[in-house]
Amino acid sequence: MTFCEYRPGLEGIPVTQSSISFVDGQRGILEYRGYSIEELAQYSTFLETSYLLIWGSLPSKDELAEFEHEIRYHRRLKYRIRDMMKCFPESGHPMDALQACAAALGLFYSRRALDNPVYIRDAVVRLLAKIPTMVAAFQMMRKGNDPVQPRDDLNYAANFLYMLNEREPDPLAARIFDICLTLHAEHTINASTFSAMVTASTLTDPYGVVASAVGTLAGPLHGGANEEVILMLEEIGSIENVEAYLDDCIQKKSKIMGFGHRVYKVKDPRAIILQSLAEQLFEKFGKDEYYDIAVALEHAVEVRLGTKGIYPNVDFYSGLVYRKLGIPTDLFTPVFAIARTAGWLAHWKEQLNENRIFRPTQIYTGSRGTPYEPIEKRDSVEDQELMELVTG
Ligand code: CMC
Repeated sequence: MTFCEYRPGLEGIPVTQSSISFVDGQRGILEYRGYSIEELAQYSTFLETSYLLIWGSLPSKDELAEFEHEIRYHRRLKYRIRDMMKCFPESGHPMDALQACAAALGLFYSRRALDNPVYIRDAVVRLLAKIPTMVAAFQMMRKGNDPVQPRDDLNYAANFLYMLNEREPDPLAARIFDICLTLHAEHTINASTFSAMVTASTLTDPYGVVASAVGTLAGPLHGGANEEVILMLEEIGSIENVEAYLDDCIQKKSKIMGFGHRVYKVKDPRAIILQSLAEQLFEKFGKDEYYDIAVALEHAVEVRLGTKGIYPNVDFYSGLVYRKLGIPTDLFTPVFAIARTAGWLAHWKEQLNENRIFRPTQIYTGSRGTPYEPIEKRDSVEDQELMELVTG
């Protein structure tokens, strides 16, 4: 065995071999199974792209129709899941609600027949079908309303917006939302996908796999950044304040939300597409008050931090698109989770094909052979600190 150096955050360390997606961070290229993200955004749909990611090739017309049919059929939630959700506090974060609900699915479909293709297909369909219903149901319930039942005559994206607002969405809005889902569906080995793979490697059920990935996506350094971007734009408040805000961040060495990426050193290709989607929405429904601030901030960051490779990532413009679609700020990350479920499931399936449990190692930095001291002889930490103060 060869020993390699410790790299914080596993930077640059391969943890798997994968044929699902490819990123070239220097040239701003993202491909799913070899297809460019630009082409998929333009010609494909989220469900077709999910099929591609999970089963490895684009579906035929019949295969896609069957997949879409299965997903429509499984969109509803068991009433016990809805009852469980009614007990959640309205003030709780929707990502926590989603994590609990995803894990709860395992109570109902708990067989771990991981070598049975029918079980795998069922789990894929159930998770893709029910996660949007859970997100929309929590939104309705926390407002004191009954959840809106899914509608079989609406496609995946339109149905989600319908369940969220109890109103059939404008076709352009539904199409743009579908593209957003495609853009967020997969992104090589990021933190939540790695989390899904580690959980998958123990051969636990797929609901546990997705629940652990949801928990990882929630953090502000990962999926939670899209929500933070809007809070930041709110705080900046006007174009005149952009430079001062940036000065302050640079001086305090704090991160500017929606910028920077472990892999991309140029503008994230998804951010380019999202910005153009935002502009299409603004043309039809009016400009978002924060858009000009966002563009000014992007320009200022490029001038000051561009040489360090700090450019907008996927989270920078997505929030502005979601706001225009009537999605509340704290649902941005759950919406990311709806999309990324496709990628997590693709990696779950890939992991099962050649599984070995993840069991990395560490570089131990603690003490060794410490003699055990009886409790009555031990000083408290406070006592020790006091003693150090007294003795200087
Ligand atoms: N604002 C200012 N400086 C930054 C930023 C930023 N957003 N991101 C990185 N840097 C600087 C950082 O200060 C460091 O500079 P120096 O070398 O002088 O100390 C250098 O760039 C490398 O940063 P790092 O934190 O070591 O990079 P990382 O690869 O560990 O972190 C990141 C990547 C995405 C966590 C980080 O860029 C960040 O915290 N960005 C803000 C949060 C964000 O937008 N997250 C969404 C990520 S993309 C989608 C997703 O994963 O969900």
